[in-house]
Order: sequence, then structure tokens, then C-alpha cells
Amino acid sequence: MKVTIARTEAEFFETVAWRIIAQILHKPDSLIGLATGHTTKGVHEVLSDIYKQHPFDTSRVTVFGLDEITNLPRDYPGSCYFRILNQVVRPLGISERNFLMPQNLADDLDLEARLYKEQITALGQVDLQILGIGENGHIGFNQPGTSFESRAWHSRMDSALEARVHRESRTPDSVHLGGLTLGIQNIMHSRKIILAANGAHKAKIVAAALKGPITTQIPASILQLHPNCEAILDREAAALL
Ligand code: F6R
Repeated sequence: MKVTIARTEAEFFETVAWRIIAQILHKPDSLIGLATGHTTKGVHEVLSDIYKQHPFDTSRVTVFGLDEITNLPRDYPGSCYFRILNQVVRPLGISERNFLMPQNLADDLDLEARLYKEQITALGQVDLQILGIGENGHIGFNQPGTSFESRAWHSRMDSALEARVHRESRTPDSVHLGGLTLGIQNIMHSRKIILAANGAHKAKIVAAALKGPITTQIPASILQLHPNCEAILDREAAALL
């Protein structure tokens, strides 16, 4: 795996943002998978700032979300749909027709996961998949213990996150919140993957995922086997490598 270490956090966000731009410039009809969270929020801000200053053609690019919280309305500001729409799709003038997200309010969420994956597959191989990493090594909503063979599925949410989303979205505790996510096998089929991590709190898991044994206990460790994966880190996240 190629490892790129940025000297500052600002340079880290810029480096990841420029990888996305380079992908679009190189192949204007790229199919790009995006992730949400603190890491990618900073990346998306830089991406939209660069686009504002130097607009480029986004009319043929298609973006999709790697995962989504289930049983929450899309207009909840913490939903992945809402974040990608407002952080990337609208700022970059990407047509909403070219923005894919799973149906997260449905009776059969495993079926919706499969349909979502089929919708993406129909567009061809994913050109670039951006990933963040959880402090336990999760990628998407694929938590430790998830099979490397997993395909799009309806996964559990860890209890701390579930409690936080319940609180912030004022969703009654009786509503089960889970994650609808592409599986690890789906992620591994992407042409190129970028794993982005910044901050000292990510140093331990980054070292384990990049240099430790490949194990389902650390889902991101499988990325060591991908032929075209780049980890982009800031110095803090790279400190234990
Ligand atoms: C969300 C996703 C998650 C995050 C991960 C890191 O779409 O795919 O796996 O990438 O939880 O989140 P942050 O960046 O908030 O540390």
C-alpha cells in the first residue's frame, strides 16, 4: 500500500481533495464512492473551495455514499445523504440524478442494500472509493468481525453511536438504527481506494491496519491486499508507523 504523509492537517485535507479532483479531470465520467464523518468533512470543504475558485466539469461524474444510517429521514443533518448532498453534490454542481444513496427507510433493509449495490454495479467498476477509518478499524459500517466476503448489507451500529444519533436526531429509542453499507468485498472491487486518516486518535488503529496482521478484527487491514490503495495521513495519524 502506498502511504502519503502530509506535513499538516491542512495539507492532508488538500491532498485528499486533489486526488478526487485529479480523478474527475482524468476521467470526467468517473464513478466515485464517498464517505462521511469528521475526516471527509474537512476534505469536502477544501474540495468545494477549490471548485469555487477553479470550476471544472462535473456534469458526467457520478457519486455515491458508501453507507447510510437506517430508519432516519434523509433530511436529518447527520444522515450521510444530507452530508454528501450539501458538502459535495450541491457545491460541485453535480446533478442529483448522478448522486446515488440507498433507501434507508424500508421494511427489508438487506434487500435495499442488495438493490443499491446492483444500481452501482450497473454503472461499471467504481473508479475511486474514499474511506475513513473508525478507531476500531471499521470501514463503512463494517465493524470488527465482519467477513471480508461481505457484500452490501444491513449492519448493526455500535451502541455508543446509536445512542448519540438517537439523542441528536430526537428519534425514539424504540426505532432501531443500523447501518446500510457496502460490504468489504464490494469495497475491494474498486479500481482505486484512498484511506484517509488524520489526528493522534487514529495513530494506533492506522498502525494496526497498515502494518499489523490482516484480520477481520480490523476490517481496514484487508486494504493491505488491494493492488491500488493509498493511505493518506497527517503526521499525527502516521506517528506509530
Ligand atoms: C461514514 C464511514 C465511516 C467513517 C469512519 C470515520 O460514511 O464510512 O466508516 O469513515 O467512522 O469517521 P470520522 O472521519 O468521523 O473519524
